[in-house]
Amino acid sequence: MRTETEHTIFLKDYTPSPYRIVSVDLDFRITAANTRVVAQLTVEPREGTAPGTPLVLDGDELTLTSIAIDGAPLAVSAYASDADSLTIVEPPLRRFVLETEVFLQPEGNTKLMGLYRSSGTWCTQCEPEGFRRITYYLDRPDNLATFKVRMSAPLDVAPVLLANGNLIDKGDAGDGLHYAVWEDPFPKPAYLFALVAGDLGSISDSFTTASGRKVALAIYCTHGKEEQCLWAMDSLKRSMAWDERRFGREYDLDVFNIVAVSDFNFGAMENKGLNIFNDRLVFAQPDTATDGDYEGIERVIAHEYFHNWTGNRITCRDWFQLCLKEGLTVYRDQEFTSDERSRAVKRISDVVGLRAAQFPEDGGPLAHPARPDQYREINNFYTATVYEKGAEIVRMLATLLGEAGFRKGMDLYFERHDGEATTIEAFLAVFAEANGMDLDQFKTWYLQAGTPRVTVSDSYDAARQTYTLKLDQETLPTPGQPTKEALVLPIKFGLIGPNGSPMAWGGVSGAEVRDEMIVLDKASAEITFTGVPNKPVPSLLRGFSAPVNLTTNLTQDDQLFLARHDSDPFNRWQALQDVGMALAVDAVNGKPWSDAAIKALSDAFGDTLASDTLDDAFKALALSVPAESQIARTVGKDVDPSRIHEVRDRLVKAVFEPLAVPMLRAYLKLASDLPYAPDAASTGRRALRNRLLGLLVASEAAGTASLASQQYAEARNMTDRLAALAASAGAWTSDAPALLADFRSRFGADPLVLDKWLTVTASVPFDGVIERIAAILADPAFPKTNPNRLRSLVGSFAMGNPTQFARADGAGFRFVADFVAEVDKINPQVAARVLTGFRIWPMLESGRREAAKAALTGLQGTSGLSRNTADILTRMLAG
Ligand code: TRP
Ligand code: ZN
Repeated sequence: MRTETEHTIFLKDYTPSPYRIVSVDLDFRITAANTRVVAQLTVEPREGTAPGTPLVLDGDELTLTSIAIDGAPLAVSAYASDADSLTIVEPPLRRFVLETEVFLQPEGNTKLMGLYRSSGTWCTQCEPEGFRRITYYLDRPDNLATFKVRMSAPLDVAPVLLANGNLIDKGDAGDGLHYAVWEDPFPKPAYLFALVAGDLGSISDSFTTASGRKVALAIYCTHGKEEQCLWAMDSLKRSMAWDERRFGREYDLDVFNIVAVSDFNFGAMENKGLNIFNDRLVFAQPDTATDGDYEGIERVIAHEYFHNWTGNRITCRDWFQLCLKEGLTVYRDQEFTSDERSRAVKRISDVVGLRAAQFPEDGGPLAHPARPDQYREINNFYTATVYEKGAEIVRMLATLLGEAGFRKGMDLYFERHDGEATTIEAFLAVFAEANGMDLDQFKTWYLQAGTPRVTVSDSYDAARQTYTLKLDQETLPTPGQPTKEALVLPIKFGLIGPNGSPMAWGGVSGAEVRDEMIVLDKASAEITFTGVPNKPVPSLLRGFSAPVNLTTNLTQDDQLFLARHDSDPFNRWQALQDVGMALAVDAVNGKPWSDAAIKALSDAFGDTLASDTLDDAFKALALSVPAESQIARTVGKDVDPSRIHEVRDRLVKAVFEPLAVPMLRAYLKLASDLPYAPDAASTGRRALRNRLLGLLVASEAAGTASLASQQYAEARNMTDRLAALAASAGAWTSDAPALLADFRSRFGADPLVLDKWLTVTASVPFDGVIERIAAILADPAFPKTNPNRLRSLVGSFAMGNPTQFARADGAGFRFVADFVAEVDKINPQVAARVLTGFRIWPMLESGRREAAKAALTGLQGTSGLSRNTADILTRMLAG
């Protein structure tokens, strides 16, 4: 199968390039018609490079108009270019300067990789392989070079000219043009290059580092949106201070600029000294942004800032090492949020996200290791596994080493690898060295795909006063990995005595047990605790200390006991989830609920709501039953999403309807007249109130449907208004169509708020939704080149509306497949991402499975599919 392997790139084939580019001089002449780029690359042969070794540079959609070495034009026979490369046949075996001139068409660049225009602004996105769309280059992360950039552009349309590093010159360039020169003293890979030219407003501020250096901060945006950037600026300053406090890392340039653009394939990009952001992760004001938006902005601003040390100063040797920077930086941003807000609430939300996005990926046809060893299209590996599982692996390392040991390793990492492009092996080596610890087996976490299943059962021997835990771990095969090894699992735990207090034990044997952590590094273990006076209830995997699926022999009574008494807030939350899950799975399997079981769960929710020790944000998370996608994953095979929807609906009504009175009372009491503030406490209050609203509406208790329309009408911020809209639309109350229409007319002119309407519209779990989405897409005014709009409408349908996407008649599958075929011609990254929604197909019941397969096979027959989409499609069908 030649077509399937011809583009495959393997980690084992990594070799350094025979030449290095050590410095880069770029001259951009930007005009409305096109952009000319003159590049002067200072090239050196690597030691040992044989005479006559060609220099092969990457290039994509470039028009080459001149080429010279050390000022002398090259003869046509001295070089060759094709669709994706430029070869210098026999370069000099000494330092030389290669000069090329190319022309680009940013205006027609709808892939949004390389140099493109977004609402008139010229901007770039180079990670991972976009720089080759700007000039011929060694577009690989292990080539570090210093960059100097001169750019000229029309003064009227582009008064703002930005690039990486420091501004060293600017002035008039004649003919209505002006110019600026930027220099970045830090050697960097090309994927961190950035340039912006446009007519932009800005806000500015400054930050003084711990060592007393003053850094000028600015955020650039569309005119008129400046005030909406203040929260992002506040988040940036807090991020800078936190990285000094927590990791001893200071910022290193004199300026730090952020630019918000409307057309962007991802969330944001950490270009050195010039971060570029999707504007949805910058703009915030109370009447258009939700609490979730505020928190997301804070998190991503922090994430991109933290990349300056984990990603930029220390970068990746090759793209297989992507999680070296992404997993570690996600871990760092999670810690930032935990320190700034509530650690327990952050952990619970992150695990909800991990289970919703990463676990299905790891258990489906697209499963891959956190460090893959092969790829056809690297853009398809910016995944939940690389990011979120990558962060879990770093978190386990921190758990195993302890806070001080982890910090020692991080300090050594920064000290030893600053200025390098390195690997996962080098990362693990510093922790092993700093702590005198063997991490060989731990490394398997990076190499092995799949979510381990951990099974625990316990027994108590009253006569001998011993308590035994039997643990097993197993990872099922994933594509390309038929057999799996045992992983190192840090399992934090505690034993709880009959009175609800922690229980001590005399001795322990059978596995490594440190204070309150079992380290399971074999397929199974039996751990015996001696001197245990009563049968305890075990609290296992506290804080979700390892990313596994845990099954225990705990009864519903045990779980509800944990929900009341566990000192670990994560496990209190988890216990309620487990009880809800068990009931949902029973019902899916046709096993009726006992009244006692329903009442026990309902009472536990009632106690949670009434508690005066739990905070609002925690209560908001705890008052829930597992999402449909979680129930589907737990059921695992022959899934019928409509049945799961029906079961979950029934469960919500059964356990929350009896609580209608206390819930309504609490809902009314939580109303607030205070002006909007995005802090953790106010956010928690709104979260609980809106959760209660959702549950009241869903429980269909008398009079609750009108609560949503009332809250919608009276809302004084977007958090409350959107929650009311979503509650109505999710239950499709009689008011829902009117509220949707009102929202559209009120906010339709603001694209970021329109996105919320698109998502709510696409998430309605009832017939008619496909027709509504199709009508929106068919409107010629709907911008099919904007990733935010497309993802809000069709991405949220494919990922977040299982009953309609996986309709029995296959209409949902066909609709998404047709959409992918169409958008693939405009923006392959967006198309490929939406296509991943099909990953649930192997676990569906046979009728839906066949329908999904037919839609996928039909898509495969489309000619001219991008490598992005073809790669996902092939893996989806093979898995
Ligand atoms: N490195 C970016 C991050 O912080 C990810 C990213 C931004 C990206 N833009 C991209 C990845 C475009 C692929 C393509 O996570
Ligand atoms: Zn990142």
